[in-house]
Amino acid sequence: MAILVTGGAGFIGGNFVLDWLAAHDETVVNLDKLTYAGNLQTLASLQGNPRHVFVQGDIGDRELVAGLLAQYQPRAVLNFAAESHVDRSIHGPGDFIHTNVLGTFNLLESVRAYWGELPAAEKQAFRFLHVSTDEVYGTLSPQDPPFAEHNRYEPNSPYSASKAASDHLVRAWHHTYGLPVLTTNCSNNYGPYHFPEKLIPLVILNALAGKPLPIYGDGQQVRDWLYVKDHCSAIRRVLAAGKLGETYNVGGWNEKTNLGVVRSICGLLDELRPRTDGQPYASQITYVQDRPGHDRRYAIDARKLERELGWLPAETFDSGIRKTVQWYLDNQHWVAGVTSGSYRDWLSQQYGA
Ligand code: NAD
Ligand code: DAU
Repeated sequence: MAILVTGGAGFIGGNFVLDWLAAHDETVVNLDKLTYAGNLQTLASLQGNPRHVFVQGDIGDRELVAGLLAQYQPRAVLNFAAESHVDRSIHGPGDFIHTNVLGTFNLLESVRAYWGELPAAEKQAFRFLHVSTDEVYGTLSPQDPPFAEHNRYEPNSPYSASKAASDHLVRAWHHTYGLPVLTTNCSNNYGPYHFPEKLIPLVILNALAGKPLPIYGDGQQVRDWLYVKDHCSAIRRVLAAGKLGETYNVGGWNEKTNLGVVRSICGLLDELRPRTDGQPYASQITYVQDRPGHDRRYAIDARKLERELGWLPAETFDSGIRKTVQWYLDNQHWVAGVTSGSYRDWLSQQYGA
């Protein structure tokens, strides 16, 4: 038995593949284009593991995907592959349309052709799980209830619009063609192997390097944070028991302001790796220009997943963020590998001097 994972060299996909292979006998075929966000170092511990088959390629390459499906006959396809950074989508939306919209469309078509030819029992057991985001629901005001599965889609950034489009395609391929799909919409993840263009790893690394900690606008924007291993356990649960055609919101019940998150990281670093001059890391906090169209608040109502499938996160924000800071302190080799040339170009494009 095998599963096909796309985007398994990225942050969440990489954690998912590592956790899956630690707990299951099934082979993982890992299809990843290795964009700037894909990193084989994340999968270094799998070298020589015959149950991990890595293939570099694009989810939109129908010939390649058809060949992999025919060769490995997976019982499920899990689609993590995407362009995922909101700020990059503002600078250049084209890649987001290419992968998140056209890539998902082509992947759905390849999978539909494969699934259509499966014998009845395998056809019935097959699943296509699409990994999506809470950002498709738009933004909340402080008094609004958290996003539930029935909320209207109101995406505001090129990234969230492209993810919303992909969710709609997945939904339509179920309703029109009967493809057995499941969709998860998750809040902000954090944890090991997170590429340091995103707030939490960026702040940890900038703090340690003595650089400014850039806060967009007033820093009062709110996100719900979920430790990445909890997201992976939710995906495994939905894959095992989710109802076909349904969507499941995944969240950590951890609403925090950005400033609050950054202050928590600074406090942990003060404890675990104090600055040599005795000053607090919070003194590096710097307010910078806001993100255009910045969504003010995200919050997730994850009760459907708890009620119907019995899933709950294992980590609180306090336990998860401590593990994360410690992981970055302990894994400087991985950090050095991702903070090379093109990463520095991104920092100067986004934050200037
Ligand atoms: P990431 O940017 O870290 O990784 C994306 C991976 O996809 C990379 O390895 C990249 O090489 C690969 N990829 C990109 N384009 C590809 C293509 N055309 N074909 C094959 N591979 C390609 O992203 P992430 O943070 O791990 O997010 C994974 C998924 O989860 C995305 O779909 C994202 O929208 C969703 N999501 C992310 C978060 C979060 O907080 N990071 C939260 C909710 C949902
Ligand atoms: O909500 C789920 C989404 O979370 C995922 O779908 C996206 O793939 C993922 O990137 C993430 O999107 P955000 O835009 O919320 O994450 P990011 O880490 O980029 O930013 C978190 C918040 O911090 C956001 O309000 C912007 C702010 N921020 C970010 C950076 C990089 C700053 O204030 N300064 C920064 O330098």
